[in-house]
Amino acid sequence: MKLSVIGCGYLGAVHASAMAELGHEVVGIDVDPSKVEALQAGRPPFYEPGLPEVLTSAGATGRLRFSTDIAEVADATVHFIAVGTPQSADGYAADLKYVDAAIEALLPYLKEGDLIVGKSTVPVGTARRLADRIAESGTGARLAWNPEFLREGYAVKDTIEPDRLVYGVGDERDVEVLDGVYATAIGAGTPRIVTDYATAELVKVAANAFLATKISFINAMAEIAEVTGADITSLADAIGHDARIGRRFLNAGVGFGGGCLPKDIRAFTARAEELGRGESVAFLKEVDAINLRRRVRVVDLAVDALGGAPYGKKVAVLGVTFKPHSDDVRDSPALDVAVQLKGLGADVVVTDPEGIDNARLRHPQLLYTSATEEALRHADLVVLVTEWPEYVGLDPAHVKSISRASVIIDGRNALDTEAWKAAGWSYVGMGRS
Ligand code: UDX
Repeated sequence: MKLSVIGCGYLGAVHASAMAELGHEVVGIDVDPSKVEALQAGRPPFYEPGLPEVLTSAGATGRLRFSTDIAEVADATVHFIAVGTPQSADGYAADLKYVDAAIEALLPYLKEGDLIVGKSTVPVGTARRLADRIAESGTGARLAWNPEFLREGYAVKDTIEPDRLVYGVGDERDVEVLDGVYATAIGAGTPRIVTDYATAELVKVAANAFLATKISFINAMAEIAEVTGADITSLADAIGHDARIGRRFLNAGVGFGGGCLPKDIRAFTARAEELGRGESVAFLKEVDAINLRRRVRVVDLAVDALGGAPYGKKVAVLGVTFKPHSDDVRDSPALDVAVQLKGLGADVVVTDPEGIDNARLRHPQLLYTSATEEALRHADLVVLVTEWPEYVGLDPAHVKSISRASVIIDGRNALDTEAWKAAGWSYVGMGRS
């Protein structure tokens, strides 16, 4: 099939290349010429394992191209909307200006029977409004909403082998069109839920709200564990054995960040309030508050470890991305902790395998090094905030020999507690003693 993908950020670039890999002919459109040029040359403008390989393999077969010229969508019959829906500047609501602009830009090129497929995360009710706009354009094109559940770090795999497919359709004919797009996944038995626009939009935000709640639940238990001497990891293992609960997403630590969970729960709250149902999701404000408290907890532990006097002390911060295997620092707990410690006067040195360039753009006041040893050398305190394998695998005896620190703060409960203690460290985890 001939597809277009409007917006070649994280979601769009991955979607375009994965669709080409599956055999479709794809054009990716973006307004940013440098992004288009990089993608066209087979270089993703962000770090995502597996994406360079897919970009070049699909590109090599001549099925994938990128352009700044929207007119190039004219041949395609299915048009994916993959532009961003950031938090608006004046509050928590999602800013839909890029989605609206993408639809307006597409309209002159649409043909009878074309299908526009929304993938961006939007407030419930958006698809209905957009469908009405498309209907009144008289192009004969239709709209479907098909939310995306990919995780950063696994984006290519999640797109090619999704857990489930959700089609929000306004016309039954569009089920067949989407089945054609996702023929490989359908053939492999991927569950498919066909529903209306509102449900499809809500599935996405409900899934992210649930995941955020699960993480904040275990972090709330960590707060209780901290004042009772209980161990949050054993607790998570024990409750996680109940299949109704499940162990995944029960890792206590510095909390969730990234471009989706924090923004999506805030936008969901704002939308529910607009709908007069603020009380239905009022708990999400608590989920957000618990999450932000965990960052403060790490900072407090660091200040305690420095004898209450962080000023002028060298603190090595291991990791700055919101999670490993990503270069994304949007709403990153690790970056927030580093900034707060710097604000208290500590000499913060941040290291990360992939996130330094992005972090520096946002917070140039911090010191950065890609060399882990340099961050650790003569440090008065070591704080692990993103569990990259290279930090989890550090030799505690070696770290002791090059730093001045005696305390290791494990903001992700990722380290081998006994090994660090055996090497003479005072180990401080989250929700455990
Ligand atoms: C998330 C959803 O998982 C995905 O389905 C959706 O499409 C986009 O948002 P992503 O933001 O890539 O994906 O990251 P995810 O792996 O979900 O992690 C989110 C955050 O939660 C990270 O900061 C991670 O460190 C944190 N986390 C995750 C925990 O603190 N504890 C856990 O047990 C799991």
